[in-house]
Amino acid sequence: MGTKKMKFPSCYMKFLLICIICSGGSCLAQDIIPGSTLYASTPHQSWKSPNNTFILSFVQQSDNTYFAAITYNGIPIWKAGGDPGGAVGSSATLSFLPSGDLQLLNSSTGGSIVWRSNTSGLGITVASLGDSGNFELKKGDIPVWTTFDNPTDTILTGQNFTVNHVLRSGLYSFRLLLSGNLTLRWNDTVLYYSSLPMDALSNFTVKSPSLGMQPEGIFQLFDPLFPSNPRLIARDNDYGEIRGNTLRFVKLDGDGNLRIYTSSVSSGSGNKVVRWTAVSDQCRVFGYCGNMGICTYDELGFAPICRCPSQNFELIDPKDSRKGCKYKEDIQDCPDRAMVLLNNSVFLSYPPEYDSDFFTANMEACRFNCLTDSVCVASTSFADGTGVCYMKKSRFVSGYQSPALTSTSYVKVCDPALPNPPLSIREVNKKSDSLKIVVAALGGSLGMVILICGLLLHYRSKPGYESLLSQYSPSEYASGVPIRFTYKQLVQATKGFKEKLGEGGFGSVYRGVLSNKIVVAVKQLEGIGQGEKQFKMEVATISSTHHLNLVRLLGYCSEGRHRLLVYEFLKNGSLDRFLYSSDNGSFDKKVLDWQSRYKIALGMAKGITYLHEECRDCILHGDIKPENILLDENYNCRVSDFGLAKLLTMDKQRHRSLSNVRGTRGYIAPEWLANLPITAKADVYSYGMVLLEMVSGRRNFEVSSETNKKKFSSWAYEECFEKDNIEGIMDKRLVGSEVDMEQVMRAIRVSYWCIQEQPTLRPRMGGIVQVLEGIAQIHIPPLPTAKIEATAPSPFMSPEGRRTEEYTSILLAEGV
Ligand SMILES: *[C@@H]1O[C@H](CO)[C@@H](O)[C@H](O)[C@H]1NC(C)=O
Ligand SMILES: *[C@@H]1O[C@H](CO)[C@@H](O)[C@H](O)[C@H]1NC(C)=O
Ligand SMILES: *[C@@H]1O[C@H](CO)[C@@H](O)[C@H](O)[C@H]1NC(C)=O
Ligand SMILES: *[C@@H]1O[C@H](CO)[C@@H](O)[C@H](O)[C@H]1NC(C)=O
Ligand SMILES: *[C@@H]1O[C@H](CO)[C@@H](O)[C@H](O)[C@H]1NC(C)=O
Repeated sequence: MGTKKMKFPSCYMKFLLICIICSGGSCLAQDIIPGSTLYASTPHQSWKSPNNTFILSFVQQSDNTYFAAITYNGIPIWKAGGDPGGAVGSSATLSFLPSGDLQLLNSSTGGSIVWRSNTSGLGITVASLGDSGNFELKKGDIPVWTTFDNPTDTILTGQNFTVNHVLRSGLYSFRLLLSGNLTLRWNDTVLYYSSLPMDALSNFTVKSPSLGMQPEGIFQLFDPLFPSNPRLIARDNDYGEIRGNTLRFVKLDGDGNLRIYTSSVSSGSGNKVVRWTAVSDQCRVFGYCGNMGICTYDELGFAPICRCPSQNFELIDPKDSRKGCKYKEDIQDCPDRAMVLLNNSVFLSYPPEYDSDFFTANMEACRFNCLTDSVCVASTSFADGTGVCYMKKSRFVSGYQSPALTSTSYVKVCDPALPNPPLSIREVNKKSDSLKIVVAALGGSLGMVILICGLLLHYRSKPGYESLLSQYSPSEYASGVPIRFTYKQLVQATKGFKEKLGEGGFGSVYRGVLSNKIVVAVKQLEGIGQGEKQFKMEVATISSTHHLNLVRLLGYCSEGRHRLLVYEFLKNGSLDRFLYSSDNGSFDKKVLDWQSRYKIALGMAKGITYLHEECRDCILHGDIKPENILLDENYNCRVSDFGLAKLLTMDKQRHRSLSNVRGTRGYIAPEWLANLPITAKADVYSYGMVLLEMVSGRRNFEVSSETNKKKFSSWAYEECFEKDNIEGIMDKRLVGSEVDMEQVMRAIRVSYWCIQEQPTLRPRMGGIVQVLEGIAQIHIPPLPTAKIEATAPSPFMSPEGRRTEEYTSILLAEGV
């Protein structure tokens, strides 16, 4: 600072003057005095919070782009003027003027004002950056203007985000509506995400909703009028992490997604971990690939990539494919036009009516109508039974292509149409220019066929491939295109199916190592009699189902009669190995403490909720049991074997009987046996059975003298709810360890609600998550075998309900 001051003697005088005024008052060491200035050219100059956690300074983003930003651990959490609005060059300054205004100028010698706080004449005397990350312009002690109240793209712990606020990043914006609905929009118009948070406890009436990230890692919606009744939006379940120097924040990223991050100073500068993502399928973010860009996933399914619809287009910026595509020859300028066919694709726009005509038409009519319409640029035909055709007539269209989509799209181009070659791995990693693509032309008529496997082998030697897998954490990106393996490759990977990991309903699972050294679990499917196309569709559905608590499908093989699935390998194997003693009475695994069990139970519930309620094509698991609950090295739970039930049921529905693999004794819902319709509630039943076993550490159907020759679950009900002997039914191995008895009680209640005979009595999976998280309360369950008729009790206690009761009694009292 010193050298700059010397150059501006008049400023120096003011500074002195203010210091004198101030020293009579209450100026703290961290107070920033009017007249202070930060220079982009002086990189280490900054205004810091008292314990140096937060820093306001210029940060260099690229060669000649700087932002005046507040950072935590090297991560910008507020930018003066926002991004890209506040981008400035190296001669920029941030001045806290004597008038009280904070101004970002693009030049130190009085350039234009890029951004200002508009706080002149409000009597501001001092500014400070607090240890919560809030920068305040104050009149004495009273904050007049704060960064918490003027957020840019981030909400910090302790910051209140209300309906008056907006987060922005490029063209994307995030707002909270009065209804409590969270919305993400593109260019302030196109809505691509909206969510009234979970509805298990209905009637959450908000008067002045506010969003806040709590220090414990809970992102919630609350109403200052009813502070005791918050709604959960998301939760960072990393209980194990240190609280002290860990910051949790919500950020609207430049890719249009809203995420919760954790950043810990101890993890190194700039490091942050994604904990929650609003739009799980990144390609569903409108405009992610710019105008005319098509969003799709690379072969590994981890990263969204942007391509042009056909070779009639080129990237606007070859260095940044997200900027979109432009016609090589404008369709207004050519005499003849054609339509390029894009299979499994859709042109997105929310709501769909926003910029398009739609009507019912077959594919050909959908193509032809757009071709002959002078304004239409693209059309999408839905093959979902509705036969709806959307015609895109706006200037901006945003595309998405994935094998999981059943719709077909057309894009208008100048004749001739030049379709894209199949996606190559090259496009995944543009940086490795030296890469050569292995292309085999299998006969002229077949066209170009890319041998992905050949590519994989080729890729093995390149660092890019491995880093690709580690770079994209599975939770970070959604929908994907699985790798296709040849049977021979999988025979090699598993050394001829040598090391069996387990045997499931659909076949055996073997350990394998891919040529890129990645360890995988290869499942050899048995009894899948259907055609290749059907199988691939299922594979696409499974691989587009991504959740932190679901096992990831990496690839498949469909060759002749061989049907195999390649999954990620989880180090700790399945839950059953931790729960029950082996035949000789010993346990081959360590004892899972209660905290881990509860974490697993919650993870399981979340994974299944995702299958039932949140993913695109809802999936009934059909075989939830400890053998299908896998654990990673940190004992995080991943549900496996989902999406397969459909494969079997399609096989002539002959698998409903117990003789079949579907459902496993002890976990199977009674409606399977009774041949009644199967719903998601069948999974809820199985979940309840597993949960009870996690508490007790033994199989529910085991009958012993200890249980008076009754089924464990019946005996345990009496012990628990009639004799209040909870410890009596708990896993003996937990004795002496730290156990949260309230959690145990909650888990037991949940499990008995789940194992009710009548499916309608069982709670929804999403409700279970809320109960386990302690957000919703749960009643004492009825005895599962009891016949319960129409006036079914509800498992959930609603805080709303309680409140009305209170009000009623108050009113009655007043009435008297
Ligand atoms: C500052 O901004 C003005 C107007 O936006 C522009 O004309 C001028 O060239 C900029 N100066 C610098 C140094 O960037
Ligand atoms: C800095 O202060 C904040 C708020 O008082 C506190 O939460 C945080 O732990 C402190 N950080 C350090 C490194 O002391
Ligand atoms: C965003 O919307 C404005 C008007 O609402 C429009 O003028 C502008 O072209 C839009 N931006 C893009 C990239 O389409
Ligand atoms: C949330 O808000 C959006 C935009 O106003 C609206 O389209 C959507 O229906 C709302 N969702 C609910 C559940 O009310
Ligand atoms: C956020 O809102 C809560 C509840 O209304 C209030 O107690 C708290 O002081 C507010 N925090 C800030 C930083 O304004």
